[in-house]
Amino acid sequence: MTANPQSRTQWLGRWGFVLAATGSAVGLGNIWKFPYMTGEHGGAAFVLVYLACILAVGVPVMMTEIAFGRRGRGSPIDAVRRVAAESGGSSLWSLLGWMAMLCGFMILSFYVVVAGWSFAYLWKLLSGGLAGGSVDDMVAIFAANNENPWNLGFWSTLVTLATMAIVGKGVQAGIERSVSWMMPGLVVMLGVLIVYGLFSGGFGEALRFLFAFDAGSLSSDGMLAALGHAFFTLSLASGAILTYGSYLPARASIARTTLTVAVADTLVALMAGLAIFPVIFANGMDPGEGPGLIFMSLPLAFQAMPLGTLFGILFFVMLSMAALTSSISMVEATVSWLTDNRGISRRTAAWGTGSVLWLVSTLAMLSFNLGADWTLAGRHFFDWLDYLTSRWMMPLGGLGMVLLAGFVLKSESLRDELGLSPRWHALWLFMARYVSPLGILVIFVDALGIARVEFGVHWPWLLAALVAIALVGELVSPRLRRVLYNES
Ligand code: PFF
Repeated sequence: MTANPQSRTQWLGRWGFVLAATGSAVGLGNIWKFPYMTGEHGGAAFVLVYLACILAVGVPVMMTEIAFGRRGRGSPIDAVRRVAAESGGSSLWSLLGWMAMLCGFMILSFYVVVAGWSFAYLWKLLSGGLAGGSVDDMVAIFAANNENPWNLGFWSTLVTLATMAIVGKGVQAGIERSVSWMMPGLVVMLGVLIVYGLFSGGFGEALRFLFAFDAGSLSSDGMLAALGHAFFTLSLASGAILTYGSYLPARASIARTTLTVAVADTLVALMAGLAIFPVIFANGMDPGEGPGLIFMSLPLAFQAMPLGTLFGILFFVMLSMAALTSSISMVEATVSWLTDNRGISRRTAAWGTGSVLWLVSTLAMLSFNLGADWTLAGRHFFDWLDYLTSRWMMPLGGLGMVLLAGFVLKSESLRDELGLSPRWHALWLFMARYVSPLGILVIFVDALGIARVEFGVHWPWLLAALVAIALVGELVSPRLRRVLYNES
């Protein structure tokens, strides 16, 4: 049974979608993952590639996904199949939808563990269990929180239950509305931490670490990590944004909403970096500490600043909310596919998905305690979920989508959806056809070691060459000429 695409639920106006998409994008990726990945990959060069990827790949892919969702009015699988079929494309393109759905599920399996950390820290602050003022104390508290599987499992189970309860009841809109106070609240909290950092003695070093760009110093792996993180942080190629786009009313502007979400998301990530690294440097901590980075550093700041416990509580309340507005978006694709195609209720779909998810996330949680020795090629199960999704599935999924949009679809298909002026449309098409795919491919070729792309001194030339190739492609493309000159 396939639901009538015309009668699909819709957001209440433009803000409904913007709040939901911002809620999905801004989450642990900005505050937990961005800082620790920046730390692991050496700082500013990673930040630069990440920003370039947001602009050159993330924004065009996000516009494409929202347009697919709205045009296809369905779960990622159905929407992509419909959009491709409309232009005579193969039904195999729906594999992109399958991969996205699987990807959202895999991300959620480790995301609930990290969200559990946030809830656990909130509880520690509320119950006075975060005592101690030294780096060693913080490292010990983080380790103790992880080594007991019952404790860690309790918190990740709680997050799973909360996520499924919200999705099952279909009350996301209520939760997403919280974005309107949570986002400003989070920005204020990060502002407080940044001001504290200004006086901590580590601010100058933090600024240099984050922004003294030296593109030559980044490894191939770091570049792939930055690309993957651009997808992760914007919730791309994991079904979330595409499914949310399927509820978008016809009149809302896709470009404007995309830019709003991308700017808000990037701002929060950069602020998180500015909040965390001064604390790291002032306390002589290692920026490459890994996934525990914010949980070891921020509590130190909260211990030392006036009203710190209060600020800490507010911070972890908002971080936990931000995690929930992201986690509910990761199951939406699966739940919408199940309700549309299997004729089951939203509630059953949510709890069914949640049960499988709980099993997988429990395995991920065990990576920190009982399963600390269960590794494959040096990675735990938790790391594998993260690695496969961010480094491979999301970039490949995004590549597939821009190729479908740029080369397979009839030009009027997405032109109607995007509703841009001819010039802006030409720019989007140019990005979707050349800049985004080539950007993704270059990073892949480099990471796979097929050819070592020398980004040190040569990369401006490399970019210029890509743009030149793309321009020639456009000049000989009748489709773009039609768009540019409005020929029919
Ligand atoms: N964008 C979210 C974050 O930065 O925390 C993570 C995420 C949400 C990834 C939804 C993928 C997704 F479908």
